[in-house]
Amino acid sequence: MTTANKIYYVPDDVKERAFIDRPTYHSMYYESVEDPEKFWGEHGKRLDWIEPYTKVKNTSFEYPNVSIKWFEDGVLNVSQNCVDRHLKTRPDQTAIIWEPDDPETPAKHITYKELHEEVCRFANVLLANGVKKGDTVTIYLPMIPEAAYAMLACARIGAIHSIVFAGFSAESLAGRIEDCASKVVITADEGLRGGKKVPLKKNVDTALNHAPVVEKVIVVRHTGGLDPEMVSNPGVDVDYSRAREEVADVCAPEEMNAEDPLFILYTSGSTGKPKGVLHTTGGYLVYASMTHQYVFDYHDGDVFWCTADVGWVTGHSYIVYGPLANGATTLMFEGVPSYPDASRFWQVVDKHKVNIFYTAPTAIRALMGAGDKFVEGTSRESLRLLGSVGEPINPEAWEWYYEKIGEERCPIVDTWWQTETGGILISPLPGATDLKAGSATLPFFGVQPALMDADGNILEGPATGNLVILDSWPGQMRTVFGDHERFVETYFSAYKGKYFTGDGCRRDGDDYYWITGRVDDVINVSGHRMGTAEVESALVAHPKVSEAAVVGYPHDLKGQGIYCYVTLMEGEESSDDLRVELRKWVREEIGPIASPDKIQFAPGLPKTRSGKIMRRILRKIAEDDFSNLGDTSTLADPGVVDDLVENRQHKA
Ligand code: WT7
Repeated sequence: MTTANKIYYVPDDVKERAFIDRPTYHSMYYESVEDPEKFWGEHGKRLDWIEPYTKVKNTSFEYPNVSIKWFEDGVLNVSQNCVDRHLKTRPDQTAIIWEPDDPETPAKHITYKELHEEVCRFANVLLANGVKKGDTVTIYLPMIPEAAYAMLACARIGAIHSIVFAGFSAESLAGRIEDCASKVVITADEGLRGGKKVPLKKNVDTALNHAPVVEKVIVVRHTGGLDPEMVSNPGVDVDYSRAREEVADVCAPEEMNAEDPLFILYTSGSTGKPKGVLHTTGGYLVYASMTHQYVFDYHDGDVFWCTADVGWVTGHSYIVYGPLANGATTLMFEGVPSYPDASRFWQVVDKHKVNIFYTAPTAIRALMGAGDKFVEGTSRESLRLLGSVGEPINPEAWEWYYEKIGEERCPIVDTWWQTETGGILISPLPGATDLKAGSATLPFFGVQPALMDADGNILEGPATGNLVILDSWPGQMRTVFGDHERFVETYFSAYKGKYFTGDGCRRDGDDYYWITGRVDDVINVSGHRMGTAEVESALVAHPKVSEAAVVGYPHDLKGQGIYCYVTLMEGEESSDDLRVELRKWVREEIGPIASPDKIQFAPGLPKTRSGKIMRRILRKIAEDDFSNLGDTSTLADPGVVDDLVENRQHKA
């Protein structure tokens, strides 16, 4: 049997323990799509509602009048659901385990009672600094407990948080602050990753030059490394550790409508600037908590570790909101998988007796490449379930994860979803779904995937096409912040009446889904989503660059690498020094994750007579597959192709 169709059956012990076995999955799935109103009406009750909802689903994918509302007359508070409601049942249980970058620094265990106090204090500091219900607050923090406190504090007072990943540059931060007009920014003196310091406060200071809207910067002391500069802008900077002492340790949660915004998270698309994906209160939390419980088969007392950063949606839904809504113990890791060495993940698993471990294929591939010796010295006996997210996982990495890390004992849930979807849409359920290496398998409750061909026909049976979702689920994004038309055009115009994911996908004879990757101009670099247009606009902002085209190419570790074709201004000379300079430039414009892997200087780009760049040709050359470039006769100047092939950056 080849790897591709080997089936890994559900082990008996997993089935016995699981909330959902196969018959239950099928009957619940059937109910969920036959009568979503009844299904979600029932499951919405997993939360505490201040005013129960009487309406459940009010959604339309009809172009151009797309409108999505769930539980629309319900009233609740997310922070109350994630914190206060556990105070009666589990006040002294650890809510958050914090594992620092440096293994020598003591870990922290924050109980639900302590979490309550910290969230209330943070909320009071926000109130004291003028934040009101409906205001946006930008959070630019490293992976420290204060990131969770700040998120929950915003939710508590009805402010909308917008987290900007601490690896983004000052430039990117400024753009995101301005787009949602945050008057308050929360940051730390410095971040710490793999022993290296990240100058967060300094970046915020730089960003403020381009973001005059900011009135207050709340600075958390973390490394203590910037003491004199902590409060460099009098009247603007607020020293959080001092402010925290000056406020009360209780703060009443604000009554929020289910459809009030909870957070904005910027993500890249195929065109334009990153868009502010908007998630709301009730549906999002129902969906995040329910998927967390069932996909990870989370039981009371389990230690759950999602290795993502809170700067990405995975961190929102599966470090903070889903687990805490479920009264879980969630682990937050400040560091990186390779520091001090490639055994760190497994050391941390052993140290904190982690039962459920959720990471990205790029990390798995890197650790696999580092060698089994980093695994072999660790026990990992606490592990019961493994998860993968962010990009397609290649069968070799899947098998290594399954055999070496889980010792063939732990099922792997390969979870497909997006920033836009709020939570997992396609994934195995450990007690219900037999596994195939590299397949995200079957849809979660209420999710109706379909495959479309280029002409807009729905494909039946085994097929390959573009992945759409036919109807709404509670965790779905509601709009693009400040630009509803962009929301409708981006997701609902390609296939009218359907949500277009941007992903290609194959469905096999068992109705299993295999995501093949993006079909638009979005690339996935180490699980980080990047619009090629963003990298292009960063490049052309350089004074020596006249034109740029960026495509992805297969990369052993990162999944995809960033390949840039750059045309220089008249009179500028190409050189390796300029390559270095451009790489640095893009890092400063966007952030290190956008660092170009290959830069090819090109005197001309392949364009049609109407001036459209033919990316198909550029992709082929970047993939080093230039033997069949297809029809180049429609190019304005077919000669440029020879030069591109001749100077490609892949040849030895
Ligand atoms: C894109 C969304 C949502 C989690 C983190 C990424 C790709 C995500 C998988 C998976 C194959 C996957 C898709 C998707 N993707 N998970 N299990 N298998 N591809 O969120 O940054 O919004 O990116 O990541 O291409 O569209 P994101």
